[in-house]
Amino acid sequence: MIARVLGAVLSAAALCAASALFAAGPSGTPPGSSAASPPSSPAGVTNVQLAWQNWALNCQGCHRLDGSGSDATAPSLAGTVAKFLWVPGGREYLIRVPGVATSPLSDADLAEVMNWMLWRFDKEHLPPNFQPFTAAEMGALRSRPLRLEAAGMRSDLLSKAEASGPP
Ligand code: HEC
Repeated sequence: MIARVLGAVLSAAALCAASALFAAGPSGTPPGSSAASPPSSPAGVTNVQLAWQNWALNCQGCHRLDGSGSDATAPSLAGTVAKFLWVPGGREYLIRVPGVATSPLSDADLAEVMNWMLWRFDKEHLPPNFQPFTAAEMGALRSRPLRLEAAGMRSDLLSKAEASGPP
C-alpha cells in the first residue's frame, strides 16, 4: 500500500518536473528562424513572471491588466504600442513618456517590463529587426522625461506610423 502511494507520488512528481522543463525549455521557434513571424516568447525578458508582476504593480493602474486603458486614464497599448517602433523617434518616446520614465522600477526591471509589454500587447506589430530594450538604454533616456509635449508627440508619431506602415 505504502509502496503504491509512494509510486503514485513519485510519478506525479516526475510529471511535474517534465512539464516544468517543457514550459521553461526553448520555445517552438529555433534561434534565427524567420523574423517575419511574431516571436513566440518575449525577447529581452529573463523572468516573465516578474515582468508581469511589475506591470501589475506599477502600470496596470492606468493601463489596465490587458493594456486596454480607458478614456479617463491612459490610451490603449493593445494593438498599437509596437507601431511607435516603426518611425524615427518612436523608440525614444516609449522610454521618455512620463509613466515609463518616472516609474519607481530600476532600469533593468523597466527594460524587462517594456520588452514584455510589447510582446504581450502588440507582438504582431513588432518590427522584424526589433532589438530589445536594455537597462543602459532605459537609464540614458528616462533621465529626460517628457512633459506636456508627450500628447502632441504621441499623435504625431502615431499618424506617421499609420502613414508609413511597418518597416
Ligand atoms: C498615472 C498613469 C500611468 C501610469 C502609472 C503608467 N502610465 Fe503609461 N501612459 C499613461 C498615459 C496618460 C500615456 C499617454 C501619453 C501621455 O500623455 O503621457 C501613457 C503612455 C504610455 C506608453 C506610450 C504608448 C502610447 O500609446 O502613448 C507606454 C509604452 C506606456 N505608457 C507604458 C507604461 C508602463 C510600462 C508603465 C509602468 C511602468 C506605465 N506606462 C505606467 C499613463 C500611465
